[in-house]
Amino acid sequence: MDENSFISKAASPITHHSCWEAPSNIALIKYWGKVDPQLPKNPSLSFTLSTSLTKTEVEFHPTTSKKFDFSFFFAGESKPEFKPKLEKFFNRIASYTPWLSDYELKIKSENSFPHSSGIASSASAMAALSLNLMDLERQLFPDMTASFFHQKASFLARLGSGSAARSVQGPVTIWGKNESLNQSSDLYALPFGTDLNPVFKTYQDCILLVDKGVKTVTSSQGHELMHKHPFAEQRFLQATRNLSALMLIMKTGNLDAFIKIVELEALTLHAMMMTSNPYFILMKANTLAIIEKIWAFRDSEKIPICFTLDAGANVHILYPEEFKSKVNRFIKEELASFCQNGHYLKDQVGEGAKKV
Ligand code: DP6
Repeated sequence: MDENSFISKAASPITHHSCWEAPSNIALIKYWGKVDPQLPKNPSLSFTLSTSLTKTEVEFHPTTSKKFDFSFFFAGESKPEFKPKLEKFFNRIASYTPWLSDYELKIKSENSFPHSSGIASSASAMAALSLNLMDLERQLFPDMTASFFHQKASFLARLGSGSAARSVQGPVTIWGKNESLNQSSDLYALPFGTDLNPVFKTYQDCILLVDKGVKTVTSSQGHELMHKHPFAEQRFLQATRNLSALMLIMKTGNLDAFIKIVELEALTLHAMMMTSNPYFILMKANTLAIIEKIWAFRDSEKIPICFTLDAGANVHILYPEEFKSKVNRFIKEELASFCQNGHYLKDQVGEGAKKV
């Protein structure tokens, strides 16, 4: 499908109310580098999570003023400071949702994870909002297929935040044109497919909160720095190759090979940040201490546990469910002390967004 397939017709306004929960996701193959309008420089792949999520409720009221408008509440409080980012999003999607200009929206959102946990909420937030918009569009155009519903929700979410495209479906999604997945697109994410090895549906993600503070560099600034990055072209090629290799591994279930690619991707993401101009380091001493501990535990216990990182200091520990009790004990006894106030969040791979 191309962009034009997502341009809907106009329709007479109706009153509508919907509520969706969309999960966060953690990339295994990282998206780092983009061009306008929110198109990735390389394909990415992620685990969709389940308990770290955003719940968003939208009331759609036909306007009396014939002018689109919205109010935004976060955790029960009016948050006008979030409006500029949302306005940018609504402007970007306006040509695909012409019916929206007839509405006033009341948007109420909340996250299941603590506000200052250093976890980016833009992916789950933009996915949840886009699903509410599609909820109304489906009401206006009832012939819509389920696959169009998901693809357009992912397409709209991407225009809000790239990684949000991957938060609509689960348990593993791929965003970005690549040769390993027919129908793959830079415009929206698709689920992995039925040949995903079942072990990956059991994967646990324990998020170790090393630094709950606001990041010194936003991901948008990071993507921007890839434009003049001396290693950018090699990185985009490497990510594309890593994606093909990982997709094969995720069919066969070779966990040793899985670990090697996942950790390589995490460290390469940080290597890109450390070698951009200006350069920056988002890992903390405790991030490295945790990585060393994970490697030692993996060696001694022969348990296929590995880590990944997003653009921050927190560490995501990934492992199959069958090792849950041993890994939980290891985290509690040996890793919690490296987390800010001893905090970590337990999550697992999930099936994607749900209507509430
Ligand atoms: C490191 O999706 O947050 O988490 O498109 O500018 O909103 P924008 O960026 P964003 O970038 C995510 C970067 C990452 C890797 C990933 O999730 O693939």
